[in-house]
Amino acid sequence: MRTLEIDGVPAWSKIGLGTWQFGSREWGYGEAYARREAGAMLRRALDLGVTLIDTAEIYAFGESERIIGEALAGRRDEAFLASKVFPVAAFAPVVEQRARASLRRLGTDRLDLYQLHWPNPAVPIASQMAGMRRLRVQGLVQEVGVSNFDLARWRAAEAALGVRVLSNQVQHSLAVRRFADPLLDWARANGRVVIAYSPLAQGLLSGRYGPGNVPGGVRRGNPLLLPENLDRAAHLLATLREVATAHDVTPAQAALAWTVRHPNVVAIPGAASVAQLEANAQAGDLELADDEAAALTAASDAFRPLGPADTARARARRTLAAVRR
Ligand SMILES: NC(=O)c1ccc[n+]([C@@H]2O[C@H](COP(=O)([O-])OP(=O)(O)OC[C@H]3O[C@@H](n4cnc5c(N)ncnc54)[C@H](OP(=O)(O)O)[C@@H]3O)[C@@H](O)[C@H]2O)c1
Repeated sequence: MRTLEIDGVPAWSKIGLGTWQFGSREWGYGEAYARREAGAMLRRALDLGVTLIDTAEIYAFGESERIIGEALAGRRDEAFLASKVFPVAAFAPVVEQRARASLRRLGTDRLDLYQLHWPNPAVPIASQMAGMRRLRVQGLVQEVGVSNFDLARWRAAEAALGVRVLSNQVQHSLAVRRFADPLLDWARANGRVVIAYSPLAQGLLSGRYGPGNVPGGVRRGNPLLLPENLDRAAHLLATLREVATAHDVTPAQAALAWTVRHPNVVAIPGAASVAQLEANAQAGDLELADDEAAALTAASDAFRPLGPADTARARARRTLAAVRR
């Protein structure tokens, strides 16, 4: 597994493991997944050198952190553990108190990375970062990160913290690049990291889904997976399949390889099974040729999904048509 260097030292695996799915009802993977598969996935991830494990207090209301804590028993030092504070009332004392609760659930005495999950303009960033600073001073948090912050907010968070805010976790994939693209040059020039979430566009880039075959649960609300956008993604998916076939890998693996090609990007795909986790880990060693990466970027540029307003209108039209039938 390739790693990303921080301060000149190999640190994070280029492919990490996202754990929103752990214990979460909205993904619909069920009890057996929460009780057995998730822990097995985490341990297998460590075996394969997938060290960056991302969770959040909000995932399954703490259950994701609890599952990770149990699965990490005896192996804590093999992981680079990242969690997030949900930004409701995230004043300094609240940030500290919520970090301690995450640490208890995770069964550890330190977080390698603690991230603000979303910007909250209602709470001064200085107060949020004061909480982060105190956690660092106490040795409970090693690095501070943000998530879903644009560049101006990322820099403001850093100014407020007084030291680097090492990473920004944002949606980034061949299907969605609007938010991350402006962050990449700055991250590269300043030794910061962009953590790509939903790097498979929640399954769209696996090429398994189509207008008649759409995943349920939380993904019903993802406009990318609506029939209109699955149609629009045909060229992107065809290009992905072509590149994947040339390397004898799956479209999902080729999509991940494209995402982590940038030196300052790591990706944290979620997984439904140990087998998916293994496939995703393999993608961490897959090198795409320049022309393949360029073809994928061009196909990504040409992918113009309908936005939420357009898709709502399209959904209304479909419902009306169904009623008329
Ligand atoms: N900071 C934030 O605001 C934020 C927001 C969202 C997510 N995240 C983090 O990012 C992580 C990943 O994002 P995500 O879960 O939204 O989306 P994702 O990683 O793009 O998609 C995950 C889904 O893709 C499918 N998949 C995974 N590996 C596959 C493979 N090798 N082949 C085929 N299909 C595969 C699985 O679903 P099926 O097999 O069921 O199709 C899996 O549940 C989350 O777990 C979470 O940690 C953070």
